[in-house]
Amino acid sequence: MNESALIVLAAGKGTRMKSALPKVMNRAAGRSLLGHVLTASARVAPVKAVVVTGPGMAEVEGEARRFVPAAQFAVQTERNGTAHAVLMARPALESFKGTIIILYGDVPLIRPETIAAIAEAVTPATPMAILGFRAADPKGYGRLIQNGTGQVIAIREGLDANLVERTISICNSGVIAVSSAILWPLLAKVGNDNAKGEYYLTDLVELAVWAGHPVALTECPESEVMGVNNRAQLAEVERLLQQDYRKSAMDGGATLIAPETVFFSADTKIGSDVVIEPHVYFGPGVEIGYNVNILAFSHIEGARIGDGARIGPFARLRPGANIGVDAHIGNFVEIKNAKIEPGAKANHLSYIGDARICAKSNIGDGTITCNYHGFEKHLTDIGADVFVGSNTALVAPVKVGDGANIGAGSVITKDVPPHSLALTRGPLDVREGWAAKYREIKKARKKSKV
Ligand code: UD1
Ligand code: MG
Repeated sequence: MNESALIVLAAGKGTRMKSALPKVMNRAAGRSLLGHVLTASARVAPVKAVVVTGPGMAEVEGEARRFVPAAQFAVQTERNGTAHAVLMARPALESFKGTIIILYGDVPLIRPETIAAIAEAVTPATPMAILGFRAADPKGYGRLIQNGTGQVIAIREGLDANLVERTISICNSGVIAVSSAILWPLLAKVGNDNAKGEYYLTDLVELAVWAGHPVALTECPESEVMGVNNRAQLAEVERLLQQDYRKSAMDGGATLIAPETVFFSADTKIGSDVVIEPHVYFGPGVEIGYNVNILAFSHIEGARIGDGARIGPFARLRPGANIGVDAHIGNFVEIKNAKIEPGAKANHLSYIGDARICAKSNIGDGTITCNYHGFEKHLTDIGADVFVGSNTALVAPVKVGDGANIGAGSVITKDVPPHSLALTRGPLDVREGWAAKYREIKKARKKSKV
């Protein structure tokens, strides 16, 4: 196969999203629309990738670089149409020789296999290939005009189509793969004499055919090329992705008791023999080992969970939570930027932030790491086999040595040496019979008032 380069059109503002965010920055399954497109296109290993953005879209550049560090950018200052947008990428690709794949940044469900298929359809005999689909409702799409032998000879935009052409249901997805040898010369010939007065990329097809180059047609299902123009479509994309991710999780050996209530991110990694109870949400950056149980109503992002661990119900794992093998994180426990080593437990009502809890330590319920004093964050370092009594406040920076025992209700402000007992506690004052007398006095007073 030829070497390939990528052009992603992402200059659209996304007016119909009613948002200050550039459209391709909207997220589905925790990943930007642009991120989905760039991930899918990695399969063809493009040697260059150029993203065409609009003015003032620096955040789009940052996002593209997260997926393709060597991405290049071209700014289209005026939106004069899709052919004009592709032209903006020309300086970056001037010296490139091979297949150029053009994708839309707001069409996130395209599969890597489809991109590879259209790239492979470009040969010396057919130097251009387009991706078509059968539309349930072709309104708004460019229609593919075929000759008697089924060869595509033109794409007609909806507004420019005549009544007969409008009845055609095979439509243009917008994805084109084309040899660099014909793209730039043909692009220079595209005019704007059409209903919108724009330079249409779709005119390339007719120009190629006139120049004697047959155009190959690859087809894909409509759902794969659905575009995101409004938030209802964004929700539909989310739904389709979740359906897919749930199925792959189950195919990979995870039990989802109520799959429709579990939400994954595009990059969630799950081992086998994992059980996920209902209503669990995975934000970006989660890796789950083997034989892990995630109990109902847990919210997990940016976390690694080791083999055999048990999380939840109602647990919250935030970025940097690193849960070791066989560790237990129970209900209403929040973990942030903390390493919980193998076999350690925090079973109830705790906040563990900026900390290390070494192997087999037990964190009693209500324990809090006081990691922030309003200006900086500090570390709490708890050794192995430590027992932290309930309702302890660990005021960081603080270290607790291996095997230490901390009495319930303590406020630990100094390092605790290994194997010692630490507790802060006022003396217990017990007054026998006090409560009974107190009740009598109160009752008597109440009676005398009536
Ligand atoms: C386009 C196709 C149509 C196809 C449909 C599929 C053309 C002329 N028409 O129509 O055949 O059926 O997509 O969804 O290409 N963009 C820029 N700069 C511009 C104009 C557009 O970057 O000046 C970007 C948009 O941000 C978007 C993409 O190109 O990502 C497509 O543009 P859009 O205006 O949505 O084209 P459609 O009218 O949907
Ligand atoms: Mg569109």
